Amino acid sequence: MTQSVCPQALKLLENKAEVFVANDGDLNNYADQIKDADAIIVRIGKLDRKAIEKAPNLKVIGRTGVGYDNIDVEAANERNIPIVITPGANNLSVAEHTLAMMLAISKNLAQCDTETRNGNFTSVRGNGKIFEVCGKKVGIIGLGAIGIETARLCKALGMDVLGYDPYLPKEKIEELNILHYADYESMLGDCDFVSLHVPLLDETKNMIGKKQLQMMKKTAILINCARAGIVNEADLIEALENGTIAAAGTDVFETEPPPMDSPALRAKNLLCTPHSAAQTQEAVIRMHTMCVESCLAILRGQQVSNIANKVVYSK
Ligand SMILES: NC(=O)c1ccc[n+]([C@@H]2O[C@H](COP(=O)([O-])OP(=O)(O)OC[C@H]3O[C@@H](n4cnc5c(N)ncnc54)[C@H](O)[C@@H]3O)[C@@H](O)[C@H]2O)c1
Repeated sequence: MTQSVCPQALKLLENKAEVFVANDGDLNNYADQIKDADAIIVRIGKLDRKAIEKAPNLKVIGRTGVGYDNIDVEAANERNIPIVITPGANNLSVAEHTLAMMLAISKNLAQCDTETRNGNFTSVRGNGKIFEVCGKKVGIIGLGAIGIETARLCKALGMDVLGYDPYLPKEKIEELNILHYADYESMLGDCDFVSLHVPLLDETKNMIGKKQLQMMKKTAILINCARAGIVNEADLIEALENGTIAAAGTDVFETEPPPMDSPALRAKNLLCTPHSAAQTQEAVIRMHTMCVESCLAILRGQQVSNIANKVVYSK
């Protein structure tokens, strides 16, 4: 394991496995320990081709989450190694985090907290920056598990939900009472909030860059609780600095943790969280136990449906 799974998940391994915890996101540094590994579980970090090649016995890769852009899928496919993921385990947590960011920004919570403590109670109270989200339009890009949950919560707050997902039929999107857009760029100018819930793929890389930021309202707020790389970080910071959009919230960074001199950490109107959207107490237990149970099932020779590379089952 790159880092330890939670105690509930470790318990599932008692008397079944020898566990090595690297406490390091790069298992290339642990060639001796991974050379005999039957399973590798990646929490934070990466598993590249070189590391997979250092583990000739490897039969399953576990990833405690749904994003697996940090694992070399091609290298795993070549050896027919299933990559276990944990869909459904953190949908609600990430959707709640997205809403928390929207509410925190609309109520200017971060600045209000700092200024109240600094004795600027009156000036920050009356600065006219705060607004209600009810009645505002939120555009959701990517209507998978998290996107749909986010839409549900936004509606509970009285927001209008607009959506774009080229892989979901229009009828399905409309059934969810979401206003369907056939292309996301035409949606951007209609939104008060834009929230991203797509995986990081070649086609989604830099989906939001300078050009798209300019299509958004000057008052718009962008939320990224998906992956860095979907939003071009340098373009976002520039857009926040020069007022192209009003504010943004991000749970993800090009380099994680971002170096202390990262412009993102000094950006105006950017609310930052440390890739913590899925780290609720509840979601962590669900993700880790599901990951460990599925890895054990695969080692027993069973097929589980929650794998990222189903192609390995056809070989
Ligand atoms: N911040 C965090 O801690 C955290 C936690 C969990 C997931 N995530 C990220 O959120 C992403 C979404 O998670 P999910 O569970 O909803 O995944 P999901 O697979 O259920 O949904 C992804 C959706 O994106 C759609 N999509 C794919 N390509 C698209 C494109 N080009 N344009 C628009 N839509 C597109 C898919 O059709 C799908 O409906 C994950 O891939 C992961 O990177 C982040």
